[in-house]
Amino acid sequence: MIIAVDGPTASGKGTLARKLAEHYGLPYLDTGLLYRAVGRQVFLDGGDPDDGGDALAATTFPDAMLSDETLRSEETGGLASRVSVHPPVRQALFERQRQFADQPGGAILDGRDIGTIIAPDADVKLFVTASVDARAERRWKEMRERGLEADLAAIADEIRKRDERDANRADAPLRVAEGAFVIDTTAMTREQALAAAIEAIETARKA
Ligand code: DC
Repeated sequence: MIIAVDGPTASGKGTLARKLAEHYGLPYLDTGLLYRAVGRQVFLDGGDPDDGGDALAATTFPDAMLSDETLRSEETGGLASRVSVHPPVRQALFERQRQFADQPGGAILDGRDIGTIIAPDADVKLFVTASVDARAERRWKEMRERGLEADLAAIADEIRKRDERDANRADAPLRVAEGAFVIDTTAMTREQALAAAIEAIETARKA
């Protein structure tokens, strides 16, 4: 079974996908990490994330980069969003994601274009979202818990900017895939979101 989980930044899709992977015993790939690694590598190379050539050169980042803590920062998330608009970058990362999806027994992947481009053949597609305010507050809390300085209004602004860029790029924009179940987690706890996702998956499997 292939499960595609898409949604905007800080929607809780990563946490949800991880729990679903555990529940169904499926291997899990956070595809945002690949774009984050490219963004980080451009930075280390002294390149320009808005330049397609510089961004493409950074897709050869070393695998060890994927476990680098700095990939989780807001700054790297912003760089990832910028490098991800270039079609050759998306193309360079395609095969790796497709192979992951094609494992015998299936897999679960989360990102922006899993249900639309990477695995349009997924057995179940989920689109996880929440209001900007709810997402900003969650990100703010998470940063505070990690002992980082955080400004709620600045985080909300950054989230709006990222939504705008991810949804309006020409290649593989963030959108709800056909046949996807939309889970709006604005007023849900993590447990409720997980229950809603499992219910959607079970409904899709029976169909
Ligand atoms: O999910 P995330 O916040 O880690 O993703 C960081 C950026 O990477 C996101 O703003 C856009 C890009 N991305 C993408 O274009 N396609 C994906 N499948 C995953 C992430």
